[in-house]
Amino acid sequence: MRLPVNFITVGFAASLCAASPGAIQERASTFSNPILWEDLPDIDVSRVGDVFYYSSSTFAYSPGAPVLKSYDLVNWEFVSHSVPTLTFGSKYNLNNSTDRAYVKGIYASTLRYRHSNDMFYWIGCVEGSTYIYTSAGSGAGRNGGEAAFWNWKQSAVLNKCYYDCGLLIDDDDTMYVSYGSTNMYVAQLSKDGLSEVRSQQVYTGGSTFIEGSHIYKINGYYWIVPTKVPVGEWVLRSKSPWGPYEQRVLFDSVKGPLSNAGYAHQGGMVQTASGDWWYMAFMDSYPGGRIPVLAPLTWSTDGWPQLVTDSNGNWGSSYSMPVQTRKRVQAPTGTDHFMGQALSDQWEWNHNPDKSKWNMAGGSGGVILRAATVTDDLFTARNTLTHRIIGPNSVATFAFDIGKMQDGDRAGAALFRDTSAYIGIHKSGSTAQLVMVNGLALDASWLTINKGSVAATGPTVTSSNLWLRVVADITPALYENSVRQATFSYSTDGASFTQLGPAYLLNNTVDYFTGYRYAAFNFATKSLGGQVTLKSFSMDFPGNATSPSF
Ligand SMILES: *[C@@H]1O[C@H](CO)[C@@H](O)[C@H](O)[C@H]1NC(C)=O
Ligand SMILES: *[C@@H]1O[C@H](CO)[C@@H](O)[C@H](O)[C@H]1NC(C)=O
Ligand SMILES: *[C@@H]1O[C@H](CO)[C@@H](O)[C@H](O)[C@H]1NC(C)=O
Ligand SMILES: *[C@@H]1O[C@H](CO)[C@@H](O)[C@H](O)[C@H]1NC(C)=O
Repeated sequence: MRLPVNFITVGFAASLCAASPGAIQERASTFSNPILWEDLPDIDVSRVGDVFYYSSSTFAYSPGAPVLKSYDLVNWEFVSHSVPTLTFGSKYNLNNSTDRAYVKGIYASTLRYRHSNDMFYWIGCVEGSTYIYTSAGSGAGRNGGEAAFWNWKQSAVLNKCYYDCGLLIDDDDTMYVSYGSTNMYVAQLSKDGLSEVRSQQVYTGGSTFIEGSHIYKINGYYWIVPTKVPVGEWVLRSKSPWGPYEQRVLFDSVKGPLSNAGYAHQGGMVQTASGDWWYMAFMDSYPGGRIPVLAPLTWSTDGWPQLVTDSNGNWGSSYSMPVQTRKRVQAPTGTDHFMGQALSDQWEWNHNPDKSKWNMAGGSGGVILRAATVTDDLFTARNTLTHRIIGPNSVATFAFDIGKMQDGDRAGAALFRDTSAYIGIHKSGSTAQLVMVNGLALDASWLTINKGSVAATGPTVTSSNLWLRVVADITPALYENSVRQATFSYSTDGASFTQLGPAYLLNNTVDYFTGYRYAAFNFATKSLGGQVTLKSFSMDFPGNATSPSF
């Protein structure tokens, strides 16, 4: 197995622990695609000073719209979420078995920093309305791009949809938004960026379906960059934001660096501090979701951007490092002991959590999950805590304290998607029965059609410490038969793990959009009152799997 260079050079860093200064290494001179093998679609990338920011989609996961930062476009760390709570209606709270928001919520949104008022703006359309969230006063502009803090709040709701939008802060500080599908629009925002003063259609793809646009001002031109779904990217340019726009193809059906995945598309352009341009796109890589790839851009003599492919005309599997820097970010792998005041931004709940039913444990760490819903349906249970899977293969180990589960409670570690499976405890009376459950499924309208069945039972567990492990292969298998597998295992000593149940076949369909995630859950089938504590969680590549401690 060939691992991307950045994973090898960055190595291990515990979540929420600063990398030790002594560990700083020179960066490799090249990187490999994908840059971060995690489900991070609908890329919007930009730079403030020395810091690149990356915003992505989260649908009904909460908090929404993660913000990642990087100093080199290759190594990325989760630092915030632009939408702290999904304020789009009761279904975003997983209110009941029919009032749920699966596959609704946040998609193809935009994030930019505005120097004039020291404010980050996030803009996204959710179910017909456009939401503007802001984070103000972090000093990022004065401090080389570093935000001292994030204080995201909802600042405006517009009664129209900026579908698949991109935000430009022009040289004269005017804010423009590009949006639309097939018919491309530009809107000009008010001086505070919180309302619209003008909008009009500026281009049409005609019979070609285009969407996912971003808008830039480069070399005196306005550039709108939409994706030709789902195979490539167009560039439109004009001397005026209102057009007329000329069109060229930036790339189309360029083979990506992964087999059994879709073509790289969507995403956007970004310039390094030294003036080089790069394009970041994603590849449909189910069962893992949509993962980011990066390639350099050059400019033609008549001033249009061009993708730098490899010698076969394909998206390169490797390029020179965009930026040489000694600044580092935390690696995506490692152990989270949940020691802080809050969850790290690698975690997102399935829908908004019931805040009264979970908290950081404090002391020696952990996150306490009190059963939040009485249901026999994982898809209806609130407070399932999810974590993106790092590919192509990884091992997730959950250290659970199950000592306070109650009769009827179900808790454990899932591979979570519209078709799901889990290993966990079904508590019956005072007996903690270890089970592997598969077959959980949503239908095409995201209603539960299968609550799953017990595929295997293990021993009853008498200790309160239980390690659950999920080993997942998310190597792309798009449009293939279900060929990637995961296994579930358990340990009561943290040293030897025993597989429970058959290998689980991962579903490669696209419709749910989000790829599989690792997830910790706890719900009640009889009555509320029980709890589990997730003491620690580790995610590593095979061969490096660790058993996190209690
Ligand atoms: C495994 O972990 C070690 C240190 O714990 C690190 O140096 C190495 O890069 C890791 N390898 C992989 C494949 O993650
Ligand atoms: C949530 O669902 C319950 C039924 O389970 C219903 O009575 C209630 O009105 C719903 N709440 C909201 C805010 O829609
Ligand atoms: C779920 O909540 C919705 C919205 O309040 C309500 O209309 C519906 O009847 C509820 N359904 C169930 C199954 O409780
Ligand atoms: C995969 O999911 C689709 C629906 O998205 C479903 O029709 C199909 O049966 C699933 N396949 C497996 C093997 O679970």
